[in-house]
Formats: sequence, structure tokens, C-alpha cells
Amino acid sequence: MQIGGRLAARLIAAERSIFVAGSYHRFGGVLSRLGSHSSQGRQPFHTARLQSLRKAVSVDALRQVTGSIKSAYQPASSRNLTVELVDGQRYEFPLVWLRDNCQCPDCFHPGSYSRVINWERFDPEAAVIRECAVSDDGNLVDITWHDGHRSQFNASWMSKRNFTQQNTEQYLEEWYRPKPRLWKRSEFGEVLKSFEFDDVIGRDEALQAWIEALIRYGVVMIRNAPLTEQECRKLANRVGFIRKTHYGEEFVVTNKENTTNVAYLSTPLQMHTDLPYYDYKPGCNLLHCLVQSASTGGQNLIADAFWVADHMRREHPEDFRLLSETLVNWTDVGVDEGGEFHSIYRAPVICLDREGKLERINHSVPQRDSFFNVPLDRVEPWYRAMARFVRLLHQEAVEFKTMPGDILTFSNIRMVHGRTGYTDTEGNMRHIVGAYLDWDEIYSRLRVLKGKKME
Ligand SMILES: [Fe+2]
Ligand SMILES: [Zn+2]
Repeated sequence: MQIGGRLAARLIAAERSIFVAGSYHRFGGVLSRLGSHSSQGRQPFHTARLQSLRKAVSVDALRQVTGSIKSAYQPASSRNLTVELVDGQRYEFPLVWLRDNCQCPDCFHPGSYSRVINWERFDPEAAVIRECAVSDDGNLVDITWHDGHRSQFNASWMSKRNFTQQNTEQYLEEWYRPKPRLWKRSEFGEVLKSFEFDDVIGRDEALQAWIEALIRYGVVMIRNAPLTEQECRKLANRVGFIRKTHYGEEFVVTNKENTTNVAYLSTPLQMHTDLPYYDYKPGCNLLHCLVQSASTGGQNLIADAFWVADHMRREHPEDFRLLSETLVNWTDVGVDEGGEFHSIYRAPVICLDREGKLERINHSVPQRDSFFNVPLDRVEPWYRAMARFVRLLHQEAVEFKTMPGDILTFSNIRMVHGRTGYTDTEGNMRHIVGAYLDWDEIYSRLRVLKGKKME
């Protein structure tokens, strides 16, 4: 009975909700533009501004899209609302999503940009429209739900959230995570961007450009930083804050006696990613060169392991499968300023996300455990695949030497890095200060910067 009742109500709603805006203006197409690079894009990240906008009022903002909605209706047998624009564009919005995202003060708190609707009582089946109209000269969809609750959605808000594939891709690229551009050794010259330290510290545009290059290419050089041990921290603070590990916040790489980490030796440092034994592995390295060895050694090696992994996916799919499916034990045991530690994390060398995209690379010969908890017959094939991967990493590695004042910044989940050996005699020292940043903070800073620019 209940279902029958709801169905009937829906059908009535569908019939009633077909409402064509009586008049609309000639600004067809405005809405679809707003859906893309609008100056209104994601203003809500600035809540103070949003509040003042709300007070000062939406009316002015809405005028910009006057008349963009032609009609809004629920087709019979559909659980979506169809919104038709004057330019002919048509979007569908699930009713349950509309109800969940009601923007009224009982359901949404603009000050915190947060949904506050009571979900303990939320019933997906109850998202049934009693009445639907297009109002405010085609700028608002005005819904009265079957329980009398009223929701209004403005044209621009809806358009930005439309469920089309194109809009989804655009949103993910612009506001979630821009796609990386993978590169091989021969492309390094055009890929490596450099920025002046003072510029990145002093100007938001430079900060944003550095972050964008870091996301795109995975490695960026920052030049002319002052020669003190504080500069990595200053740079990290520009983005967010330093990611602490069991080696502390900043770490100093020189030739240390009785070290617990091979990075502190002057012998060659095989290509690796840092800290693979962390589940939440630090995302980005900042390596500040204060003193560089005058010897011919001490060259930085860096390769785009995403490019190599992608190449293996295409050319050596079986090896790729082994490296992306076999769990390897990564470990680090020792003592440093945070006291004793014993870390273990199991993950493949090539980690893929749920969509099969490259997510993270783990590779560190010293920190790959001798405990290898896999079936016996997996061992040898894995070693062969790994040997090919490392060979390719070395083939694709670029070699260069940082100079005092350089801060080499690179993704620790994408790049592998290393160093050729150097002769560490008196007057031929090397002094590097390093720190980490997490990608969550980097992406967050980028979104804040983009939002500010749009104001
Ligand atoms: Fe390292
Ligand atoms: Zn509401």
C-alpha cells in the first residue's frame, strides 16, 4: 500500500512538475559557461565570503544567469529531475541527491560549507516531489517535497554539479587532482621547471605555479634559497606544514658516523623512494643543498617511475601484473631522534588505485625485508619482473648536481631518486637538509590559491 501510494504520488508529481518558465531572457548558454571555468567556481571554500554573499544576497549573483532554466520536470517512471536549459542543454539530477543536498538553513550550514540535514531520519524512498516550479525568471528550481519541505536550487549551483561525464572529468581535473604528465629521460629538459625561492615565498602566483608543476611533472627545482637550515621549513610552511617521520621533521644528510640509515653514508645511494614502510608514506621531498661536494660524484639521480610503470604495463604486462599485485614487506628498524622504531608495511612496488591508475611506487633495496610472505612459486617471477623494472628506472634516470641554494622538490610517491657516490674528505663535504610534505596539504593549498584568484 505504502509503495503504491508513493508511486501514485510520484506520478502526480511528475504531471504537476512540468512547468515551463513563462519568460526567459536572451542569455542562453550562460549557464553552460558557468559550469566550466566560472568565476563562481567553488567559492564555498571561502566561507566568510560565502556568508557575506548570502547576506548581501544571492539575487545579484543570480541575475548573472537570468533565464537559463527553461523547464524542470520529473519524467514519468524516472527518479530523476530533468532540468532543461534555454540553450537546449538537458541535465538529470536524482531526486534523492536533491533532497540530500537541500540548501535551506535546516539542511545546509553555509558558514561551515557543511550538510547538516538529519540523516538519522533520512529516507531515500521519501524523496518524492509534490510540486516543482521554475522561478525567479528561470534562475531557480523550486521543489516542494511530499512532506512539505521546500528546497530551492539555483541554476549555477546545479549546473556546476551536473552528472555528465564531461562535467565529472572537468571537476576532477580542476578541483580534485590534475593529471600528471609522465616523462622519460629525453624529455627532462622541457619538463624541469625552476622557481626562485623568494618568489615562491613572497607571491601566491609563484607558489601556485610551483605546486602545479610539481603535480604535473613530479619534480621541480627551487633556486637561490638562503643557506640556512631553516629554508625547507619556510617552504613547507608556505604550503601547510612539515610531515614528521621517525627521522624527525627536518633531517640533515651528511656523512654521519655509526648511522642507522644508508642515506647518511657517502657511498652511492641506489635509486629508491623514501619511507616505503609507511602506510601513509610522506608524499613529497624537499632537499635543500647547503654545501655541495666539489668531487665529481654526488650527482642526483631521478627518474619518473610512473612513466616506467606505464611503459611496463604496455610492453611487459605480465611483469607489470606481478609488480602491481605482489605484496612486498617494507621495513625500517633503528633509532633516531624520536627513539627506537620498527616499521613494517606491506604493499606492491607498483600500487594502483581502484580505477587502475598509478598511485604510488615503492622501491628501496635496503628497506625491502627478507621476510617475503608470498607463495613459493611467486618468488622467482617477481624477482625477474623487479630486475626489469630497476633496469628501466636506471635507463630513464637523469643525472644532475644541485648547487648550494637549490631546493630539489619531488614526489615521493612517483619519482625514484638516488645519488652517485662522492669522496668525502675534509673541505669536500656535502650538506643537505631535507623535509617532507604530504600531498593532501599540497592539493589543499592549490585549491585555496585557485579560489582566491577567482574572487
Ligand atoms: Fe631518499
Ligand atoms: Zn532543506
